[in-house]
Amino acid sequence: MIRAVITGSGSALPAQCVTNDDLAQRVDTTDEWIQERTGIRQRYIAGEGETTSSLATEAARKALEDAGIDASEIGLIILATATPDHTFPATATQVQANLGCRGGVAFDVHAVCSGFLYALGTADSLLRTGMAKKALVIGAETFSRILDWEDRTTCVLFGDGAGAVVLEAKDVEEDGPGILATRLHADGEHRELLYVDGGPSTTGEVGKLRMKGREVFRHAVVNLADVLREVLEDASVEAADVDWVVPHQANARILDATARKLNLAPEKVIVTVDQHANTSAASVPLALDVAKKDGRIKPGDLVMFEAMGGGFTWGASLARM
Ligand code: ACO
Repeated sequence: MIRAVITGSGSALPAQCVTNDDLAQRVDTTDEWIQERTGIRQRYIAGEGETTSSLATEAARKALEDAGIDASEIGLIILATATPDHTFPATATQVQANLGCRGGVAFDVHAVCSGFLYALGTADSLLRTGMAKKALVIGAETFSRILDWEDRTTCVLFGDGAGAVVLEAKDVEEDGPGILATRLHADGEHRELLYVDGGPSTTGEVGKLRMKGREVFRHAVVNLADVLREVLEDASVEAADVDWVVPHQANARILDATARKLNLAPEKVIVTVDQHANTSAASVPLALDVAKKDGRIKPGDLVMFEAMGGGFTWGASLARM
């Protein structure tokens, strides 16, 4: 059977690391409050010249190197972001130009923190129908540029970064590698809980992120537990058989609560929120790359990806590495 197989990963972070203590110099907050409520210790913030496309390009180049393939072989680039370089063209086309692989399909997916799951699900479908043979799926964000740095309830939570995977259509056995099942959802009813208060067709300004964190937290735990159960059922896999969970890194407490609901051992959950904070669509591929490179995630492992974000949007995907 034809499956989309993850054959490489890469990631990129801005040069500047900002600790909680650094932030406390400019915002009325403390390292203790941030760590206790979120698990975040530091985040990386894009400086002059660092953009969503520059971070995405660096992550993509590393993923190509890891997969051992040349950019010219890539026929599909899907880039998940809520912070594109420009309103148009798609940031994916800028990355395509930077990599020098012209002529294939390249577009952005906008599902905020679930963006990487939406992009992965879309790429999986396109590869299995034969539209392309090799794809780059990227999550890249510069959320620091849409934060209200006067609002301590949101600005301490986010960071910038990018992660990428190479996906290749391969003919594999039933128990072979590849994406086994994906479920994606959206519910536009709760827009006011998490949104950006601007845009090209409304204010003409980029706008700033607004969030009612406590309500988002409540929805996140319920929605994530539901979608994880759906994917396990679709793939006929028990929670106990999953080797690793690579979740969207919004908040250490959400990760703990979701793992508890599904009886997943906390040591199977890859946590990078302490290092990177919430990097929206970049957080899942960034965490995957960290755990692959440090040797935790190995070929043959069963890995669950999951995320929930603005919209609301949420989803999960199970893959054998
Ligand atoms: N430093 C110090 N105090 C603060 C800060 C801060 N940075 N921010 C808020 N406080 C204060 C509040 O003013 C409030 O004070 P009060 O009791 O005197 O009014 C108190 O801390 C508690 O505030 P809450 O908002 O109720 O704190 P809560 O325990 O809910 O934690 C948090 C807030 C961390 C945002 C939490 O609700 C959360 O993580 N929610 C989920 C958010 C999330 O995951 N979003 C991302 C998902 S989608 C996406 O990634 C875009």
